[in-house]
Amino acid sequence: MDRHGLSWSGTSLHGTARARSVSIPNLPGFWEGCDAGHDETVAQNADETRACEQSPRVAQWTAMAALIPRPPVDLPPGAVQLPGWLSLAEQRRLVRACREWAAPPAGMRATRLPSGGVMSVRTVCLGWHWVPYHYSRSVDDGDGVPVKEFPDWLGELARRAVAEAYDDPDAGAAYQPDIALVNFYDAKARMGMHQDRDERSLAPVVSLSLGDTCVFRFGNTEHRQRPWTDVELESGDLFVFGGPSRLAFHGVPRTLPGTGPDIGMSQGRLNITVRESGLRQD
Ligand code: SIN
Ligand code: MN
Repeated sequence: MDRHGLSWSGTSLHGTARARSVSIPNLPGFWEGCDAGHDETVAQNADETRACEQSPRVAQWTAMAALIPRPPVDLPPGAVQLPGWLSLAEQRRLVRACREWAAPPAGMRATRLPSGGVMSVRTVCLGWHWVPYHYSRSVDDGDGVPVKEFPDWLGELARRAVAEAYDDPDAGAAYQPDIALVNFYDAKARMGMHQDRDERSLAPVVSLSLGDTCVFRFGNTEHRQRPWTDVELESGDLFVFGGPSRLAFHGVPRTLPGTGPDIGMSQGRLNITVRESGLRQD
């Protein structure tokens, strides 16, 4: 049992899609969604369940892929993938929320690294703003305004994610996340191997994927090199890493453009990682 009340002797769990509802406000558009060529007001007011433009080839691929269960991937203790954890309706609502968060002020931007490089993913933060390699209450490397709030409903969703990933309601109830990093990957974006180690809490990281499938490389806690496991994260997948895997190196070597389902984004991948900062709120 670790200090978060979790036991790590078991093997990883692999789940299937389950229906549930999330309360997310109606949100304005930001990226080109499925309404390319329409005005954004049309996009934001459209019924979330309407059919979006999708090529017949992609639509057929998506439908067939949904029928074929993915084989379980062997992951180290503390790392759990639940494929298809989010329903399509939940994914659409999360995409709308991401659009609202991405809009300025305190909107989405490419993070500049101390080395001078610029990350290829674009990021918006909730609760605490991440600047390599610390957290701040304001967007110090951007427009300087306070970071957007971390919403209660997202914390609730993440608590349920932890409870279901570890099949441990107490672990879910104990989880008090206050940070989300929302990353957008275009077809060329990727993320190098790194550890999530700027938080003071070692509570699990909850990752939700939306849009295009990616290859998620999950490594070891010692260094960036092998051994690692390549996992395909599809839209709606939940991935949780905590306990002995909390400080595992991980990255995204590529996305698979054109593989996303009909959830209101015409291209790209969104990933939301939810974390507990362990930082003081004042
Ligand atoms: C991250 O490591 O912060 C993001 C991982 C992902 O995009 O799946
Ligand atoms: Mn990370």
